[in-house]
Amino acid sequence: MTASLTAAPAIVRTIAELRMQIKDYRRQAGEHASVGLVPTMGYLHEGHASLLRRSAADNGLTVLSIFVNPLQFGPNEDFDRYPRDEARDLAVAADAGADIVFMPSVGEMYPRPAATRVTVSGVSERLCGASRPGHFDGVGVVVTKLFNIVQPDKAYFGMKDAQQVAVIERMAGDLNQPVDIVPCPIVREADGLALSSRNVYLSETERSEALVLSATLARVPEWIAADATAERLKAAVTAGIAASPLADIDYVDVLTFPDMQPPQADLKLSDSRERLLVAVAVRFGRTRLIDNILIPAAEA
Ligand code: PAF
Repeated sequence: MTASLTAAPAIVRTIAELRMQIKDYRRQAGEHASVGLVPTMGYLHEGHASLLRRSAADNGLTVLSIFVNPLQFGPNEDFDRYPRDEARDLAVAADAGADIVFMPSVGEMYPRPAATRVTVSGVSERLCGASRPGHFDGVGVVVTKLFNIVQPDKAYFGMKDAQQVAVIERMAGDLNQPVDIVPCPIVREADGLALSSRNVYLSETERSEALVLSATLARVPEWIAADATAERLKAAVTAGIAASPLADIDYVDVLTFPDMQPPQADLKLSDSRERLLVAVAVRFGRTRLIDNILIPAAEA
């Protein structure tokens, strides 16, 4: 099945139907078959479209899943009000080259309450793992289910959720899940705001204040070049973000990537032999945004 730019993708709502369609594709494509999976929670934006285009370029069949997974939301989080727009999502999916859009109900994915959790210790414990207890266990369950249902050759995830990428890569490696995890770059608006489905919650003022995140992270390479340690860099990033009166900082942290551990306290970050993730989570009003910058390892 090869998608043209405007071909309408097949809409599939049940696991049985999805498995049948993928089986048919594999039978027809034979040894050349290659299935790409783009897992999302919908309300698609250009970031998701970039994952779909990448999958469509790499694979003969691209499956987009749209499922707002209740298991990864805490009791006081935005599961109920998470934005949803099926018609718009289908138009984006068609345009970006999805062949199948899998849109299961909660009952289809969880016919009974899931008693299983997939916990990836270490990498999931800091940043969003600390701020959103249980979040990554819920992501681990749903992504594992999607991998088992679709059995993709490759799965595509955006680096805006860098810790999620680290968790999923570790999970897939530890559990021998036979799928290549493909991390894809953050997509930003022209003014620097990282694309997120949650940006829709922002008022005009909050949105303009939120630009402090990308503007501050853009200065990180300069601070690292000036011999910052992790503590000094965190202080500089915190001060940069705190310049916005609306910014309510949840965390600012510097960790090795993908292990997600603090670098040595006295290490000049410009000497780090491991990649470093500088990650932030900040509330503007009721909206919690995350952003990050990944710093390459110093050359030996
Ligand atoms: O990144 C997301 O949208 C979700 O966490 C994912 C990977 C689709 C799992 O629900």
